[in-house]
Amino acid sequence: MVLTATERRSRQRVMPKRAATETEIALRDVSVRYALKGGGTRTVLQRLNVEIRAGEFVAVLGETGCGKSTLLRMVLGQEFPSEGAVVVDGKPVRRIDARCGYVPQKYALFPDRTVMQNLMYGPENACSGWLGRLQPRFWRIRRELRAEAMQMLLRMGLKSTDFNKYPLQLSGGMQQRVAIAQALLMRPPVLLMDEAFSALDPSTRASLQQQLKDVWQETRPTVLFVTHNTSEALLLATRLLVLRPHVEGEPESNVLLDMQIPHTGEPLAMRRRTREFEQLHEHVKQLAFREVELTAGASVQQMPRRGDGVE
Ligand SMILES: Nc1ncnc2c1ncn2[C@@H]1O[C@H](COP(=O)(O)OP(=O)(O)OP(=O)(O)O)[C@@H](O)[C@H]1O
Ligand SMILES: [Mg+2]
Repeated sequence: MVLTATERRSRQRVMPKRAATETEIALRDVSVRYALKGGGTRTVLQRLNVEIRAGEFVAVLGETGCGKSTLLRMVLGQEFPSEGAVVVDGKPVRRIDARCGYVPQKYALFPDRTVMQNLMYGPENACSGWLGRLQPRFWRIRRELRAEAMQMLLRMGLKSTDFNKYPLQLSGGMQQRVAIAQALLMRPPVLLMDEAFSALDPSTRASLQQQLKDVWQETRPTVLFVTHNTSEALLLATRLLVLRPHVEGEPESNVLLDMQIPHTGEPLAMRRRTREFEQLHEHVKQLAFREVELTAGASVQQMPRRGDGVE
């Protein structure tokens, strides 16, 4: 169902924001294994138990191949665990969930549609077929959505002259901004972003980090944000989840570190320069290093939590 902007706003007024104590995403004893060509299996994720509360901004880090994208695809409903359950908003995930906005690791724009057509594809398709399109309401909703789409694209740093271009006429970074605008347009309650800023130059990256933080502060979606950049993770997130690659035959979970991050409302450019931020960065680097050296079983026990000297 597609709601007009007015309907969406009034819903937001009627429906109170979900309490921050409620679990929005739960991974319960999740393991993922892939069959190997020559027989046997390879375990990518093992016995993952993670509960994410509504409105948390979780940065997911970990070396390449440790299963970050797999984790996101399971929350989205594009992939399923070999064992265990993935639960979103109290229900086991069985198919792609329309409540999730998703920015995949690789660009996912339709090459034969313009920027604006790409943005409008999802919302228009959610309208009930050609019969629905005969209704005057469809065109009103469409007008409102187009206006919102334009605002979102401008916010992501695109120009109005880009709206009618095709993806191949844009740089990789610009395409990535379109994909981000697309995911944010419908203000999804769950936002899954897989290395969404990796193709951007440092100044664009900084500006989009701030935009994302602003959007998160306005509507408080639950965010799973995969990045390889520790500093970006610490600036944006309220929680850090560091995964390690699974070692075949070992029984431990992939969680290397799971810690809360003190959240402040100051602009990111200022926050980045504070002594407190530097100390936090240093602290996390040391923790991750120390944890790597520990045996896997001990590291999960020693997860630092809020108030555990991190703030
Ligand atoms: N469909 C699949 N079939 C077989 N193996 C797969 C499949 N999907 C992922 N894998 C393997 O699972 C492992 C984890 O992949 P994933 O893409 O989740 O890692 P990642 O942490 O996102 O890595 P990166 O940081 O490089 O993006 C990789 O070794 C990958 O080869
Ligand atoms: Mg990945």
